[in-house]
Amino acid sequence: MPQRASSNSESPKQKKISPRNKTLQLSEAEIAKFRSRIFKSARQWRAKGCPNGTFNGDFLELLPHMPESSVSLLILDPPYNLNKKFKGSKFSKLSENDYEEWLSERLALLKPKLKLNASIYICGDWFSSISIYKAAAKYFKVRNRISWEREKGRGAKANWKNATEDIWFCTMSDNYTFNLDKVKLRRKVIAPYRHTDGKPKDWDDTKSGAFRDTHPSNLWTDISIPFWSMPENTEHPTQKSEKLLARLILASSNEGDLVFDPFLGSGSSSVVAKKLNRNYLGAEIEESYCLLAEKRLELAESEKRIQGLVNGVFFERNTLAEQLAKCKDHD
Ligand SMILES: C[S@@+](CC[C@H](N)C(=O)[O-])C[C@H]1O[C@@H](n2cnc3c(N)ncnc32)[C@H](O)[C@@H]1O
Repeated sequence: MPQRASSNSESPKQKKISPRNKTLQLSEAEIAKFRSRIFKSARQWRAKGCPNGTFNGDFLELLPHMPESSVSLLILDPPYNLNKKFKGSKFSKLSENDYEEWLSERLALLKPKLKLNASIYICGDWFSSISIYKAAAKYFKVRNRISWEREKGRGAKANWKNATEDIWFCTMSDNYTFNLDKVKLRRKVIAPYRHTDGKPKDWDDTKSGAFRDTHPSNLWTDISIPFWSMPENTEHPTQKSEKLLARLILASSNEGDLVFDPFLGSGSSSVVAKKLNRNYLGAEIEESYCLLAEKRLELAESEKRIQGLVNGVFFERNTLAEQLAKCKDHD
């Protein structure tokens, strides 16, 4: 019977699950299979020739074994500056200065592993963001702050509901990859102006409506947090969506580049890197999340689709993307 992933230290819980709930489950056989795939020792990973994969442990133990200047894209989704439990491990809220210090120490150790033309993305909420900017600016060129709308979350009683998160975009130098044409957003045109000869002005006239491919801004309102009816969903409490990661990976890396995520969680960065033909390496301290990452990586061998990205184009709504994918004229 399928079970939620569990770490060595706890017994698997058996829950009744609705048939429409697509949250990924692990059977006992899968737990054993994926446990044999994850790297428990950084030395062993190095001895095998530094393959794509998942390191189960503190990423600080992996770093000394990673070749210098090997990473093209670093995606950091660290514990936010909140009190938060991730299975057995726990992050306790720090002062702004202490979180800046905590992150700075880690960025200093990560930097030598990055190529001179590498890009770095660092995720946080509004409060962590204050410290992230200060830490990132010590080591990298900070280029932008993306804010994305988070649909989920409880309302506050005496404050504004927190409905955004940030992603800081940084680079090692002025020489960096930015594939603008891979990350344009296809939007419905509200005022479809035409030239005098009747041809559409800078938009496409398709059977399914008027569309324009627009430059992506630093305000993302088309991302949803994975939820139970999405096949990418896991039990990880802070999983990022594949669509969000696809946008980062397509913009800031090329096929064959190495994407490294030291706080891998349920494996979203590695899974999307694999779907987009990049190399990938992730570290995650909790074994049960590593097992989920491995299951997702196995599924990615046959399922390359990413919700909201159709024929290489991002759509402002995932549902619209799916509808339009069915229309032959919308390639
Ligand atoms: C914010 S979550 C990342 C979620 C991930 N982006 C996803 O889509 O599932 C941070 C993760 O970092 C892990 N973690 C915390 N400290 C770590 C460390 N020193 N080394 C490796 N993983 C760590 C936590 O267990 C947690 O799963």
